[in-house]
Amino acid sequence: MLTIFRKLLLVLPLVSLSTMAAELPGDPAAGEEIYIDVCEECHQLDGTGENGATAGDFVNDKKILSQSNEELLQTIFDGKGDPIDGMPSMRDELSDQEMKDVLSYIRQTFGS
Ligand code: HEC
Repeated sequence: MLTIFRKLLLVLPLVSLSTMAAELPGDPAAGEEIYIDVCEECHQLDGTGENGATAGDFVNDKKILSQSNEELLQTIFDGKGDPIDGMPSMRDELSDQEMKDVLSYIRQTFGS
């Protein structure tokens, strides 16, 4: 009994940390419009980026959305990978709030 209780005490902070990471930083409804306008072209409406062929696959590549909001917002701001075929920087495209909104839409729609 005591050991189970101890294990729970160890696991609980981890669980709350991971739900914290998945908290929505903005408004997913506003983000939907941005996603369709700016991201869908590469990431596709279903979020798979044609299984990663045209962009990061939010649905099957669980590593992507397991990152924190801070990390993902930084990547959206800076871009990632190849300057031509990679993820373009949204620095001049979207405001900070729009990046938060679109990340919220992605988490809510494609996160598990
Ligand atoms: C021109 C095509 C293109 C557009 C437009 C695009 N992306 Fe991407 N995105 C990519 C590619 C390619 C990758 C994979 C980059 C890599 O891992 O090297 C990617 C990866 C990502 C990742 C995962 C980064 C990681 O840590 O692995 C996120 C998050 C992301 N994109 C968000 C967005 C958002 C939000 C938008 C719209 C505001 C957007 N992308 C628009 C091509 C695009």
